[in-house]
Amino acid sequence: MCGIFGCVLRNGPVVPQILDGLGRLEYRGYDSTGVAVIDNGVLQIRKDAGKIKDVVIRLKINEMKGSIGMGHTRWATHGAPNMINAHPHTDSSGRIAVIHNGVIENFMELKQELLDKGHNFISKTDTEVIPNLIEEEMKSDIGLTEATLRALRRLKGSYAIVVLSSLEPDKIVCARMESPLVLGVSDEGTYCASDAPAIRPYTNKVIYLRNGELATLDVNGYKIVKVSDGSSIERVPEQITWSLEMSEKQDFPHYMLKEIFEQPTSLRNGLRLQEKYVDLLTMFLDRGKEVFLVSAGTSQHSCIVGSYIFSKIARLTTYPVISSEFIEQYGSTVGIDSIVLAVSQSGETYDTLKAVDHARMRAATVLGLTNTVGSTLTRVSRAYVIQQAGPEIGVAATKTFTGQVLVLAQLALKLAKLRGKLSQDELDEYKESMQKIPGWVETVLEKTYDNVKDLALKYKDDKLFFFLGRGISSATAMEGRLKLLEITYVPSLAYPAGESKHGPISIIQKDTACVFVCPQGETHAEIIGSIMEMKARGASIISICEKGDEAIKRLSDSFIEMPKGIPELLTPIPYIVPLQLLAYELAILKGLDPDQPRNLAKSVTVP
Ligand code: G6P
Repeated sequence: MCGIFGCVLRNGPVVPQILDGLGRLEYRGYDSTGVAVIDNGVLQIRKDAGKIKDVVIRLKINEMKGSIGMGHTRWATHGAPNMINAHPHTDSSGRIAVIHNGVIENFMELKQELLDKGHNFISKTDTEVIPNLIEEEMKSDIGLTEATLRALRRLKGSYAIVVLSSLEPDKIVCARMESPLVLGVSDEGTYCASDAPAIRPYTNKVIYLRNGELATLDVNGYKIVKVSDGSSIERVPEQITWSLEMSEKQDFPHYMLKEIFEQPTSLRNGLRLQEKYVDLLTMFLDRGKEVFLVSAGTSQHSCIVGSYIFSKIARLTTYPVISSEFIEQYGSTVGIDSIVLAVSQSGETYDTLKAVDHARMRAATVLGLTNTVGSTLTRVSRAYVIQQAGPEIGVAATKTFTGQVLVLAQLALKLAKLRGKLSQDELDEYKESMQKIPGWVETVLEKTYDNVKDLALKYKDDKLFFFLGRGISSATAMEGRLKLLEITYVPSLAYPAGESKHGPISIIQKDTACVFVCPQGETHAEIIGSIMEMKARGASIISICEKGDEAIKRLSDSFIEMPKGIPELLTPIPYIVPLQLLAYELAILKGLDPDQPRNLAKSVTVP
């Protein structure tokens, strides 16, 4: 999604901070880069399609002066990625510039209205209506803030915007509706950005803007008002507790690898959830007539894992539903007795929030599981829990997947206790196993990385991969496959192994790579049968199995051994780790950047 950074400094130049901020937002995914500054009262804009570093050199952006400005990385929604459509966009007079993340649904009507009034449009974007609407409002002799408020009241859709104008050269106006925007304050100046890590080098004092709020920033601070009626809102800054180092690469070549290796720590943090929130969520889960687990991407795989754990240990039936399908599938039945547990790392995924809105409208109870404090999901949920994984920058989710599963497992365990579904001994055993998870993951990272590297070399030229598992491991297989797809672009399929004979087996040929997730447990005997089916057709078998599992090893061409004694229901956490590493290593061998996969964004905040 687009990245936004704005800042007004006591002493310029502002461009180095803008470029640094945009760099920290690169993970959101983008195709174009643009910067605007006000220098000696004159608005200057440089923008083009391309990566930050290339556009900066090509357009000599480093030479731009001024102590107030903004920058944008665009992820195209309306109009091709090119110079004209890159942000900032201006009004017809060229004095008001806007950067925007989101989608303006009624821009066609607004554009026609503005064209009729004599405004010129040069881009194909929806954004360009915003500076023109502001220009139109400013004709009634009102200031930039008031004109922006009036313009925003005309918009339907989602936005985080920053406005800069040579008409009022000392201030920045910014606002949000659905797309995230966070403010920062320091002695040197005032900032706004799509995400807190962009601001973190300059301050640890941040203010999360909420939907329907506008802020005016100058060197002395910020003033927040409601877009709907212009009334003032008092909000004191919050302290960011994570350090900049926590969101930087440290000694790792990529964020993704750093985040994979951070898992023992993030999982330890995930075991320190605030009890009262876990209890609250458990109480709601217990009360629901039906429980939907709503999410997208990797978060959906956590939900599928969660559905097995809820069913097996708490005897709770849950329905994992892809958020973009939720309204179509269950929109007319969800109601006052339903619980919707929305799972979203960012807490900002458009489809998930839309599903949640719908559920709330129909009086369902919405619960949230997210990694992002202050995110929209936390505000629209009746109760929520923060998974405590720390910022995740790599587009492919890794530590947040394992963290989500760990939280869901803790919820299931609490619920099992509340419902009396497990004996005290069983409860104690699960609890003890959960405490061991970070250590198991540590062992996996230590003991398997070299084997995974060999595996990647062996299979680097394969054109197709299958990922198969039974029971809860079918979800591990799906997540392993998603990692591979996201960052290596190698076509791949994932299926519950039992289903593979109903179609997918037809494309197995000699040496097709089949990755089997096969922990010990209830599904072990069945997965052996599935491996034999594939082997009989010439497939090359790669197994993730327990240490010393000779039956599986004998059938496999390659295998990765996992620690002994992990209860099957908790295996998705350690067993996904070698698959995360495999995807990473294959991406590196192919010369791809795993942190910035093509066409993908960390957080999809548009429909
Ligand atoms: C995007 C990301 C995925 C993520 C999904 C859901 O597609 O690239 O990594 O799993 O969004 O994001 P959420 O923040 O809702 O978990």
